[in-house]
Amino acid sequence: MGKTRIEFLCRDCGANHPKWQGKCPDCGAWDSLEKFAVEVEATKPGAGPIWGGADGATPEEAELLARSGIGRAVALSEVPEAQVPRIPTGISEFDRVLGGGVVPGSVMLLGGDPGIGKSTLLMQVAASIAVGGGTALYASSEESPQQVRLRAERLEPVVRAGGAKALGERLLVLGETNVARIVEQARRVRASLVLVDSIQLVHRADVSAAPGSIAQLRRCTLDLVALAKSTGCGVVLVGHVTKEGALAGPKLLEHLVDVVLGFEGDRHSALRVVRGVKNRFGSTQEIGLFEMQGDGLAEVEAVRVPLAGGPSAPGCAFVATMAGTRCLLGEVHALVSTGFLGSAKRRASGLDSSRLAMLIAVLEKHGGLRLADQDVFAQALGGLKIAEPAADLSIALAVAGAFLHRTLPHGTVAIGEVGLTGELRTVPHLEQRVHESLRRGARVVLVPSSAKIGANVERDARNEQRDIVKVGTIQRALDVLTPVQRALTEGRSTSDALGATERGTRTPPAELAEPKAGVKRRG
Ligand code: TYD
Ligand code: MG
Repeated sequence: MGKTRIEFLCRDCGANHPKWQGKCPDCGAWDSLEKFAVEVEATKPGAGPIWGGADGATPEEAELLARSGIGRAVALSEVPEAQVPRIPTGISEFDRVLGGGVVPGSVMLLGGDPGIGKSTLLMQVAASIAVGGGTALYASSEESPQQVRLRAERLEPVVRAGGAKALGERLLVLGETNVARIVEQARRVRASLVLVDSIQLVHRADVSAAPGSIAQLRRCTLDLVALAKSTGCGVVLVGHVTKEGALAGPKLLEHLVDVVLGFEGDRHSALRVVRGVKNRFGSTQEIGLFEMQGDGLAEVEAVRVPLAGGPSAPGCAFVATMAGTRCLLGEVHALVSTGFLGSAKRRASGLDSSRLAMLIAVLEKHGGLRLADQDVFAQALGGLKIAEPAADLSIALAVAGAFLHRTLPHGTVAIGEVGLTGELRTVPHLEQRVHESLRRGARVVLVPSSAKIGANVERDARNEQRDIVKVGTIQRALDVLTPVQRALTEGRSTSDALGATERGTRTPPAELAEPKAGVKRRG
């Protein structure tokens, strides 16, 4: 081991400083500098690029690197065109998030809460790669190879592939925490994908810091990045997250890798979402949906929403929400109960709570609902998180329905942004949302008046006896809500309800004719 020099590395931004300071001058974080011994040799001009480059590469690999402008300057036009022949993992939901598969030589970081299913997902990816003819090396630093095998034998995709035996030489397991041995084994078996579960427990023998410390994380990740760049294999690292949900350790880790993925889900629901946080080779808009089952993670094409049930209950509304290029149907529930004026509760789960507060204010001001002394709870069902304004209308209708004890007509999907003036605005991808709603069995789709919908979509809907109803303001949208009893007995159509108001014949529903305390509707 060469001479070392002491530096201080910021846990948050990764900046180096020669002296310890209470506050990082680069990012302003307090108490974030950690002592770190740098090998002086490594920073000499003769050393390769930060991520290793030709270090430890075989002569052929070094030659290949030199031709692509690594270790030797070449004209930009001479750098070989990146053919990005992605390696599909065979798990389409995972590939979708990656942008079509693993880019050879790329490093991915998968973060997520403990027990969310990271190891399960990686094992399924490894098995799938092996089935597809690649060699997957599952380096487990947290579990012993026996434990890994035990888990693998539970997993349906692995069992379907004929069990660990039939995967033969191509699904390899390594119980190891020393990064040098992981790299060495990956080179030896010529792995096409190396999965490291988890990077926090991997260490380098020549770094004196404890595993998981910033010094170890940095060096080990750099070694694995160097492995990926020099051999062209893909590397997936599992990273722990902190209590706040950020990736544990330094932001530095996120800077070093090509792709950062988050694995999220609600502990109480089986739905799991893989989301791109950073992707050097694709969009971060896409999500992959999985469901945790007894025999592993199953891919989910669309969230199951009971659109075609009986009349919906007061406080329920459906929304078509976009996740990347894909449209998902979501269900929003709201509950309104008597609270105290001045300290009424407003709670949102899976929804944006400041958006909820705004919608309550709009309902007060423009919808004539007196909600100031009402506790309002709203949630997105099924573990889905809906943050986009397109869900405004459905949230507002769910809250209003819960308060007025009225329901939306059976199978209604509401799409639209609610402005502070009470006007409804159109949202991106409206036509796709309408199309998906109709495909999934919606009888009525509420859209803003300004929405542009192709004539063919409207015609098809009409032919199938479905309604695409355009509403201009939140007041008009509230007229679509039907009193519960009437919804059950009369089956009044949405256009009738709107037609009646158009002619100015809005009759207050029975329960509102004699205003009860707290239930008052202006206008
Ligand atoms: P795991 O992949 O070990 O989580 P992580 O690596 O993110 O900590 O998954 C652990 C949870 O998943 C565990 O609580 C049990 C559950 N699980 C299933 O429900 N079905 C399965 O087939 C497997 C393997 C795990
Ligand atoms: Mg695990």
